[in-house]
Formats: sequence, C-alpha cells, structure tokens
Amino acid sequence: MSTVTVRRATAASADVVADMWVRAAAALARAGLDQWQYPVKLHNIHAAIAAGTCWLASDSFGAIVGTITLDQDADPEMWPPEDRPADAFYLHRMITEPAAKGVELGSALIDWSARRAVEAGRKWIRLDAWRSNPGLWKYYADRGFELVRVVPHPSGSGACFQRDATIQLGHGPTVRTAA
Ligand SMILES: CC(C)(COP(=O)(O)OP(=O)(O)OC[C@H]1O[C@@H](n2cnc3c(N)ncnc32)[C@H](O)[C@@H]1OP(=O)(O)O)[C@@H](O)C(=O)NCCC(=O)NCCS
Repeated sequence: MSTVTVRRATAASADVVADMWVRAAAALARAGLDQWQYPVKLHNIHAAIAAGTCWLASDSFGAIVGTITLDQDADPEMWPPEDRPADAFYLHRMITEPAAKGVELGSALIDWSARRAVEAGRKWIRLDAWRSNPGLWKYYADRGFELVRVVPHPSGSGACFQRDATIQLGHGPTVRTAA
C-alpha cells in the first residue's frame, strides 16, 4: 500500500466508522485489554461527521483501511488553560483495518494530521489515550509523542500525549486528501 486517500466521512458512512470501532474494541478485548469496552458512542461519530472532522482512508482499490477524527475540541479535563488548548489539533478514534497492519498507516495518518495542524497555524497535535494500556502508550511514544500528564478521567482514557506539529516521521503510505 503506497498511497491512501482520505476523505471526509459522510452521514452514510457512520455505520462503517462504528463497525470499525466495534471490531477494534473486540480485538482489544481478545488481546486482554480493557480499552474501549463499552458500547460504541454513535452520537460522537455522528457529531464528528456532521462537523466534518471524521475522515476515512481508502487504498487504491477504494477499500476502507482506516479512520481518524481530527478536531479542535480540547477536553478541558485533559487540556487545562495553561496548555493553550487552541494551539493544537486533537486526534480521536484512529483505527486501522487488520488488513492494513504492518505498513505504518497510523504513522502516516498522524503525519497527515500534523500537516493539517501546521496549515491551520497550530503548534501541537494531541490525543488522550487509554490509561491502563502501556502498549498504546508505547505506540505513541515510539512515534514521537511525549506524555504530558495522566488524568483520572472516568472514561478510562486520560493519558495525554502531544507531538510538535512540525514533526513528520515520513513512515508508511503517502496520504492524499480528496478534494
Ligand atoms: C493504533 C492504530 C490505529 C495504529 O495503527 P498502525 O500504525 O497501522 O499500527 P499497527 O496496528 O500495526 O500497530 C503497531 C503496534 O502497536 C500496537 N498497538 C496498536 N494499538 C494498540 C492498542 N490499542 N493497545 C495496545 N497495543 C496497540 C500493535 O499491537 C502493534 O504492536 P506490534 O508492533 O508489537 O505488533 C491501530 O493499531 C488500531 O486500530 N488500534 C486499535 C484502536 C486504537 O487503539 N486506536 C488508538 C486510540 S488512542
């Protein structure tokens, strides 16, 4: 997979995003992880699609290979005023399909997010990751993110990571944004 195309998810693809989330949550459970073990929050997916912040990535055959939501919505419980929340874009629900494993698609989607953040004048890309999942922390640390703080958020998330938006790791497929 040398190139993927990202386009905004439409209302018609909400079920696709939800299905990816449900399958990812099931795979996490099979791996013995407690991340995302609650019913899919469809309203969040619909809200992101309506806001134009939910994206789907497809391969050159048109098959969906990933999704990511990229917005400006800092959770104040994670990112207090001293972090200057408006200086960042925030990643949510990044999921890659099992068929796309091993090609650094996630890394490429993070780079793509960072480019969009820079284009919008933001200094950081940020996310909150599941607190009790060291494998996930390692994933982001290995890709240049620093752990800023851990918040005891009731959701189970709260490991707050950020990366300088100007960093491009350059791994994985080329990501093209559909017009
Ligand atoms: C996170 C994700 C998008 C990264 O995609 P990717 O760049 O294509 O990377 P891979 O899926 O190949 O994963 C890379 C490594 O990170 C690990 N990893 C990824 N997500 C993980 C998670 N949620 N928990 C623990 N380990 C995870 C993988 O097991 C893999 O480990 P390995 O190298 O030892 O095999 C993808 O793994 C995914 O969909 N994970 C489940 C959903 C998720 O946790 N999303 C992030 C929420 S903050």
